[in-house]
Amino acid sequence: MPSAMMGSTALLFLIVTVHVAAAATVHEHSQCLDNPPDLLQRGVEAGKVEDNLPGGFRAYVTGPPSSKRAVVLASDVYGFEAPLLRKIADKVGATGYYVVVPDFFHGDPYNDSKKLSEWIKTHSPVTAAQDAKPLFDYLRREGKSVGVGGYCWGGKFAAEMAKTDDIKVVVLSHPAYVTVNDMKEVKWPIEILGAQNDTITPPEQVRQFEQALSERKDKIEYFIKIFPRVAHGFACRYNTSDPFAVKNAEQALAYMLDWFHKYLK
Ligand SMILES: *[C@@H]1O[C@H](CO)[C@@H](O)[C@H](O)[C@H]1NC(C)=O
Ligand SMILES: *[C@@H]1O[C@H](CO)[C@@H](O)[C@H](O)[C@H]1NC(C)=O
Ligand SMILES: *[C@@H]1O[C@H](CO)[C@@H](O)[C@H](O)[C@H]1NC(C)=O
Repeated sequence: MPSAMMGSTALLFLIVTVHVAAAATVHEHSQCLDNPPDLLQRGVEAGKVEDNLPGGFRAYVTGPPSSKRAVVLASDVYGFEAPLLRKIADKVGATGYYVVVPDFFHGDPYNDSKKLSEWIKTHSPVTAAQDAKPLFDYLRREGKSVGVGGYCWGGKFAAEMAKTDDIKVVVLSHPAYVTVNDMKEVKWPIEILGAQNDTITPPEQVRQFEQALSERKDKIEYFIKIFPRVAHGFACRYNTSDPFAVKNAEQALAYMLDWFHKYLK
């Protein structure tokens, strides 16, 4: 091969490499974004979308409105439209809870036009928990005791709510953004469902949460489980054609329901 041609091949290779590296930076890989919901997979839904709940929230609501026990499900970054999340909500509602899945992103869920690290700056779960106060006040005024089930982003939301007197119990499924310090401040029975292959909140970190909870002088109730051979997102963004994935998601739901049955009176 003439050397000039070899030079241009090398240059081309260099350009391609730089380009790929740049693309990787823009679309950084995060397990928070794996298996995005397929909005076309929406089947029959038992509930309905309500506008203008207190706090200005739209929400998917399902289950008996007269129930004295309410579950607020806090979504992952893809928001309250996700068909599989609504299916979970319907199943929770079918066991007797009034279920509310608020649109905490006010119509602006994550999409891949942005980096997650950019989007999160204006969609903080900590701020969202503060802004949700009117919604929780309303549920309590209706005479309901309230539990929160949070997935990924919603796991941090749930941890924040567990620091308030607005709720009675929380379940965090493959949470993101949760810290050991959060475990020192939660006030209510907390269940954390982690995943062996979770790179967002890896098992070692979940064990640190457990350690912090066990060292609490005030002995709050907790339950920790790490699901083997599944990754972050397994409880609410799973491959419905994969029996192993379906089984694990169903088990996560069963654990969440058990925890609510035990502590939501
Ligand atoms: C994606 O998000 C951006 C800003 O967050 C928004 O302006 C845009 O409309 C969204 N795109 C879609 C297809 O929803
Ligand atoms: C989980 O990790 C194990 C061991 O590294 C690997 O064999 C398996 O394919 C992974 N599964 C998923 C769902 O990521
Ligand atoms: C979902 O699972 C099925 C069955 O295991 C598999 O054939 C398919 O490739 C999976 N889909 C995705 C998107 O991983």
